[in-house]
Amino acid sequence: MQNVIPSEDVDAGTLIFREGEAGDCAYLIQRGRVEISVDGDDSQVLAILREGELFGEMALIDGEPRSATARAVSECTLLPVTQTLIESKLKTADALTRVLLKLALGRLRRMHAHHRDANSEEGGSVHDQTLQRVVSELTLATDLHKALESDELELHFQPIVRLADGALSGLEVLSRWNRAGAGYVPPQEFITVAEETNLILPLGRQLLRRACAALTRIESQLMSLESETAPLFVAVNVSARQLYADNEVGELLDVIHASDLPPERVKLEITESVLLDDPPKAAAAMRQLADAGVRLAIDDFGTGYSSLNYLHRFPLHTLKIDRSFVDNLMLNDAGQSIVRAIVALAHELGMQVVAEGIEQAQQQKWLSQHNCEFAQGYLISRPLPEDDLIRWATKRSAE
Ligand code: C2E
Ligand code: CMP
Ligand code: CA
Ligand code: CA
Repeated sequence: MQNVIPSEDVDAGTLIFREGEAGDCAYLIQRGRVEISVDGDDSQVLAILREGELFGEMALIDGEPRSATARAVSECTLLPVTQTLIESKLKTADALTRVLLKLALGRLRRMHAHHRDANSEEGGSVHDQTLQRVVSELTLATDLHKALESDELELHFQPIVRLADGALSGLEVLSRWNRAGAGYVPPQEFITVAEETNLILPLGRQLLRRACAALTRIESQLMSLESETAPLFVAVNVSARQLYADNEVGELLDVIHASDLPPERVKLEITESVLLDDPPKAAAAMRQLADAGVRLAIDDFGTGYSSLNYLHRFPLHTLKIDRSFVDNLMLNDAGQSIVRAIVALAHELGMQVVAEGIEQAQQQKWLSQHNCEFAQGYLISRPLPEDDLIRWATKRSAE
């Protein structure tokens, strides 16, 4: 299913859709003018819409037929906004907002019916900041689609080291998008957009494939170093949609099987809050991965108010203590008690512990003394591009 469609150019006079048809798409006018009219004997033009305006949304919001006909008045560039996107936006809107929207739409439709032959002013197009935001998200989504096709996303690697001896144990892959003309977009921002548009599925598979290939390359480079490197694991972040979409876990396993890595060397990081959306479904998806040998980590542990009751039902191999706890570690006794308790809980349930966001030597020392197995953070290294990572490891093995 395609959820982001590139913009389309249409000639003057093109009929975009007709009143009464079913609607599966809204459009944002990027260039040109579009006439909105109603048919029949009393045919009339309701509005001429311009650049930056959106139309065709009504049918998508309430599932009713098109309330009017849309025709390009001049040559136009239209950015389609799919039903999937609108549905995902509506789903995440709160209940009151949804009710208000439908209510207002119902009133607009009734008003249309009453005033079919009365003269109407230019329609109530939304011209505010909300629309601006939607527009910028839409362009981000189309650009991201292109970025995906041209492998524009970069992978950075952050080392994860074993506290007992400082050995490099694994790498977490963090994606970076250098968006043409706009600089780096923070991952949280584009991952969110990717999730809303379902682009996360092809994107996630691509990142996983590239991550596995990169690990093989990096390892063969590190082998040539003096120090002996044990096999590394690669940790890849996985979003809610990837875990919950039908067949997606199978797709991810196919990617792993097609790589040169044994599944045991691939660790998928799943944020705590994702597991709570639908615990039985999450458990089933994770079971499928774990049965194939893939390792699973619960990410950002402690931020999602997870029900401790559920924790033992997930086949988790690793628990990652969220950065916020590491931040508080040296501030007070309570901070230390909490981390001690998390480490004990993880071990009790048979999990290894990685502490994230270590920035101070003091934090690392404390964690090492309190049985935390692995560490990750700026103190050790920031996430690095492949070349820099090799340099980092080379320099370290020479020390
Ligand atoms: P995360 O999985 O919790 O990743 C750790 C984040 O903490 C990264 O931010 C990393 O750069 C940052 N970090 C690591 N060490 C330190 C430290 O010592 N101090 C501080 N202040 N920060 C540190 P980044 O790269 O901006 O990624 C943010 C989030 O975006 C990630 O959080 C993850 O949830 C998501 N993300 C990144 N790449 C991907 C991806 O390929 N797929 C998915 N689904 N999500 C991704
Ligand atoms: P939809 O009903 O899906 O298809 C016709 C579209 O025309 C409708 O969504 C709105 O986007 C737009 N439209 C309907 N009535 C008006 C109006 N009075 N003024 C401007 N646009 C309108
Ligand atoms: Ca992570
Ligand atoms: Ca994390």
